[in-house]
Formats: sequence, structure tokens, C-alpha cells
Amino acid sequence: MREAYIVQSVRTPGCKQKKGQFKETRPEELLSFIMKSAVERTQGLKPEHLEDVMCGCAFPEAEQGLNIGRVANQMAGFPEKVSGATVNRFCASGLEAIALASARVQMGWSDLTLGAGVESMTFVPMGGNIPRPHPEYSRTNAEMYVSMGVTAENVANRYNVSREDQDKFGAESQAKAARARDNGLFKEIVPTPAYKYVKQDNGTYKKEEFTVSHDDGIRQSTPEQLGKLRPVFAADGSVTAGNSSQTTDGAAATIIASKEKCDELGLKPVARLVGYTTVGCKSDEMGVGPRYAIPKILEQTGLAKEDIDIYEINEAFASQALYSIREIGIADMMDRINIHGGAIALGHPLGCTGAKLTATCLANLEEVGGKYGIVSMCMGGGMGAAAVFERI
Ligand SMILES: CC(C)(COP(=O)(O)OP(=O)(O)OC[C@H]1O[C@@H](n2cnc3c(N)ncnc32)[C@H](O)[C@@H]1OP(=O)(O)O)[C@@H](O)C(=O)NCCC(=O)NCCS
Repeated sequence: MREAYIVQSVRTPGCKQKKGQFKETRPEELLSFIMKSAVERTQGLKPEHLEDVMCGCAFPEAEQGLNIGRVANQMAGFPEKVSGATVNRFCASGLEAIALASARVQMGWSDLTLGAGVESMTFVPMGGNIPRPHPEYSRTNAEMYVSMGVTAENVANRYNVSREDQDKFGAESQAKAARARDNGLFKEIVPTPAYKYVKQDNGTYKKEEFTVSHDDGIRQSTPEQLGKLRPVFAADGSVTAGNSSQTTDGAAATIIASKEKCDELGLKPVARLVGYTTVGCKSDEMGVGPRYAIPKILEQTGLAKEDIDIYEINEAFASQALYSIREIGIADMMDRINIHGGAIALGHPLGCTGAKLTATCLANLEEVGGKYGIVSMCMGGGMGAAAVFERI
């Protein structure tokens, strides 16, 4: 197989669903902007060098339907010859897209690809606009369609993850994110244009542009304050708005090139995807996914958990992230896990998340001078995904 190098990896800020700064910015606008920025920031690269775009999206319908991987690349001004696809593996969609874009280069099918992710949970809510579970199958297999919050309650109950520990984890995520934002450590963020529709004197609306530079869901609170929030998914439960991921809008993009193309265009490799894996688990406790996916990718790549300098483990919920961290045996390495916070503070824009965490993982590897990073998450339906990246 050929070598495939990552030459760029960036993301937009993540902004709160319906209440946040991107609430009037369509997903195609977020995605086309971040893809264009990824190209512009890569010295030696021009849009005409690109061959294909793989874009992750967890609910690819309505505003983010119609194959957004193609529509947004044309909106970005890429030449007609740049093809595009939309990839769905729920919360791992963005990571799947990067893996597929890398595999195309490794196989020799393309020389230059872009792996991306997008989700506007404002425009398309979780579950889609008109969910239609299979009538007979859903009667006997309701857990396939159960709310993600209920699966988080199941993990907390079955594996004894206490409310106190979940709230402490949630407060730490927020504190780490606030510290990173205040110290300008989110180097992977590109300040992104957003839009609002302002009513004019004559009753018409004018589209106005403004710039968003930071994740807008970061809010600091103590574990004691979080302890006062009411459970959201079960009357006597422990999962709350303070220890769950936020529902968010965002987009991210990673550019991958063959060694030959890097040499020809003078592109500077920054990392490579060493391996990627997925695994199924029980759907009514889907959050345990990383507990299986991370050991599987370590075995596949011949690495030990101590070899990993940066872990980006998606915080869909504190209960499942904590359970996975404990079971994998990395609880004594918290200084390597989600060092600038996770989805509890920064948001979880479903299909974008894998691409977003890749950009964050590579920036954090650079910051600490590390070599290997892992990106991992759980997925609805009962799955885990994990990828190992090597900084070059
Ligand atoms: C849990 C959930 C339902 C909460 O939704 P929400 O009510 O819109 O959440 P908000 O962030 O607006 O918080 C609601 C309230 O909780 C309180 N709150 C939330 N986070 C807080 C914090 N860190 N500190 C203090 N109070 C907090 C506030 O009172 C807040 O209201 P306010 O913003 O008006 O002050 C939603 O975030 C969710 O569904 N998350 C999981 C998403 C998911 O399943 N993803 C897929 C995973 S596989």
C-alpha cells in the first residue's frame, strides 16, 4: 500500500443547536467554508489538485441532504471535476470519511482527497425530521431505536458510574475547555463566517455576516452546581444537561495526499492515519463502544496504551466516557485524555465529530510534541470506532 499523508486538518467552532451563533447558518455554508479554508491554508495546494471529497453526516437529509459532499464542494468553488460523497456511520461519520479518503490514496485510486464532517443539529434534529423505525422490527427490538440518553443511564446503572463522578467529569471538561480557549490553544479552529437575517424597516430581511471564533457552549460550573441539575432521561436517573454532550452545529475538514503528490507539490505532511477500526456492541448501552474499539485498534496497530500521547474520546455522555476510560485501564492517564475538554463543553455535532476530533487530536499532538494520538467514539445502534494517528 502507498503512504497517505495528512497535510491539513481544521474545524469551525462548535455552536449550540438553535441557541448558538450558527443557528441561521446553513450546513452547506459551514462545510464549504471549512473545506475552502483547509485548501487555502495548505501551502502549495490549489483546489484543482483535489480529486474527491468524502463527507460524514449523521442525518443527511433536508438542508444537509442531496449529497452535501458534492454540493458543498461546488459551493466552495472547487472545479467541476472534484467529486463528492456523503458517508453515514452516525457519530463516527467524520472519522469514517477521513479513513475512506485515506484508503483511496493508499490504494492508489486517488492522489489527493478531502475527508470532512458536518452537522447542523439546528437545521436537522437528531433522529431526522421524520423518523420511521421499521414497524415489526421495532416492536421486538425497541433498543435499536432507544434515546441515546437512556443508553447513557443504562451504562451508569449497569457499571456503577456514580452521579458524583459524572458531574466531576463534566465540570473538568468545562474547566479544561475554558482554559484552552483563554490561552488560545484551539489552534485547529478557523474563525468562521456566520449569518443572521435582520428585519429591515420595509419588512424584508437582509442577510448579514459576522465572524465566530470560539466554541460557544463553554460554561464553567462546579461539580456541586452540576449536582443540582435535574436528570433529563429518567426520573430517578443521573444523566443531566451538565454531564451530557451538547447538541451542536459545526464542520471540519482534513486533506490527504499521496507521498508522490506531496513531493510534486511541495506539501508538508503533518500526520498519517496508522489504522482505523469499528466494532459492534449492545445497542441499549451503545456508549461502551470505545471500551472495545480502543483495545482493538491498539492490537491492530501493535501499540500499547502507554504509547498514545493524546486520547480524544468523545464525551457523548460522562457515564460512557468514564466507563470506557476505566475499563481500558487508562484512568491514570487523564493528563493525556481530552486535554482541552470534550463534547460536554465543546459540543458533539454528530456527523462532524470524528472530523472535528481529528483536527483537535493533531493540534494537541503538536502542542505536546507527541507521536501517537487516538480518536474514538461510541455510536447509536451500538458501535464503537477508533483511529490511531501518527504525527510526522
Ligand atoms: C441533555 C440535553 C437534552 C440538554 O439539552 P438542553 O436543555 O438544550 O441543554 P442546555 O445546555 O440548554 O442546558 C439546559 C439547562 O441546564 C443547565 N445547565 C446545563 N449545563 C450547565 C452547566 N455546565 N452548568 C450549570 N448549568 C447548566 C442550565 O440551566 C441550562 O439552561 P440555560 O442555558 O438556559 O441556563 C441535550 O444536551 C442532549 O440531548 N444531549 C445529548 C445529545 C446526544 O444524545 N448525542 C448523541 C450521543 S450518541
